[in-house]
Parts: sequence; C-alpha cells; structure tokens
Amino acid sequence: MRVPIIAGNWKMNKTVAEARELTLAMRGALDAVQGVEVVLCPPFVDLVVVAELLRDTSIRLGAQNVHWEPKGAYTGEIAPTMLQGLCQYVIIGHSERRGYFGETDEMVNRKVRAALDHGLTPIICVGEDLAQNEAGETEVVVSGQVRAAFQGLSADEARRCVVAYEPIWAIGTGKAATAAGANAVIGGTVRGTLADLYGEDTAQAVRVQYGGSVNSRNIAEFMAQPDIDGALVGGASLKADEFVAIVRVTARIRGGEL
Ligand code: PGA
Repeated sequence: MRVPIIAGNWKMNKTVAEARELTLAMRGALDAVQGVEVVLCPPFVDLVVVAELLRDTSIRLGAQNVHWEPKGAYTGEIAPTMLQGLCQYVIIGHSERRGYFGETDEMVNRKVRAALDHGLTPIICVGEDLAQNEAGETEVVVSGQVRAAFQGLSADEARRCVVAYEPIWAIGTGKAATAAGANAVIGGTVRGTLADLYGEDTAQAVRVQYGGSVNSRNIAEFMAQPDIDGALVGGASLKADEFVAIVRVTARIRGGEL
C-alpha cells in the first residue's frame, strides 16, 4: 500500500527566524496526524534549525535542490553528502529549477542518481507548460521527463523515488488542474511510463503526488483519486493553518489505508 505523502515546498521564503516560527506553529498538529508522511522543504539555510525542531517527531525534512557531485569547486551549490543525515528528502527538477536555472533532463537524472546514492529520497518533478498542454503534448512531455529522470535506475531504486506531477500552468496560479485530469496523467502517463520501464508491480509501488495550487479546499478532491498519493504544496505550505488542514484532510480520506 502506498503511504500518502504531503510535502511543503517553501521555495525562496522564510528567514531562519521565520522558519523557526512557522515550524513551531505546525509541529504539534502535524506530528499528531497518523497515516500520512509529512515533509517540510525549507531553504538550505533553514535546514539545520528546522531539523533540530523536528527531532523526535514523525515529520520529515527535505531540501529543494542538490548537486550531483559529492564535493568540489561548485560555488554556491550544495552536495548530497551535506544533506545526508540532515534531511531525508530532496526535491529534484522543479519546474522553477528547469525554467529559471537551466536544469536539463540529464542534470535531473544525475541529481536523482546522487540522491539515491546518498540515502536521500528524491521527489522528482515533472509537468508540461501551458503551450504544451494546449497543443495536446502533455503525454509526450511528461513521459519523456519520467524516462529521462529514471534512466539507469534499477526497479528497487525506482520504488524509492517519489514523483510529483506539477503542470506548470497550475503552479502558483490559483488554477489547479482538475482532480480527474491530474489522476489521468498520473495513472496513465506517469505510472504507464514506469510500467513500460519496470513492469506493473513497480509502477504501482511508486508514490506520485499532484502539485499546483493545492489548498485546504481542493485537497479532498485530489486525495479521492485512486492514483494520486499526496501533494507537493507551495504557497499553502507557508501558512500553518492551511498546511495542517491539508494534512488532516489527507489523513481523513487516505490515512486509513495504512
Ligand atoms: P503552488 O506551488 O502550490 O504554490 O502552486 C506548487 C509547487 O511549485 O510545488
């Protein structure tokens, strides 16, 4: 059974002091929820303080990016060896990384490889932009991104990954995909591609989130879909009440599957 997973992507928000405040405002409520894996993904500079605050709780910690080399002359980058032991998850290939910072499918694949080699669970982001969506290219784009990201991974390694399907037109726009539409891409294209690569059993074992304008009002529709295993939440993860509500609704709908 796939354990639902809700991850909060704080993006480039929250100073260390603000990160402490936000974590403290949610920690007790999130820790009390059963049957849902909860991951906070603050900026790098906040990781140490948030890790300390999450110690002895069930809440997991994730980074928003990682370099593929274990160390070296890469000014401004963070190595997987630095994240190992500090956090459990790392978001890889977010559309903002791909779009603003030139991350290619090949770089995403290297980062996924590096994360797995260092005991980190990658949350691999895929998704089409508006023009691709309107041109009917969603399946081609998303399946290509999945194939590239998983290149060279064994079935066991694939099972350790989480995929986040985030249509770019839905991110930060307030216009979420329909739950049925997201489920169709996740069940048909993401799992379909994984089934091509690894067989149906592995495809059924990989957790796939939806991301893009998820909030406490629409999460129930997404979690009612059979192929959607959780959400990658941006804006709504910056508000303690909203994020707690999203996790609680998820637990109510799907937490009982554990
Ligand atoms: P959003 O962002 O929830 O603010 O749309 C989601 C994401 O980019 O992961």
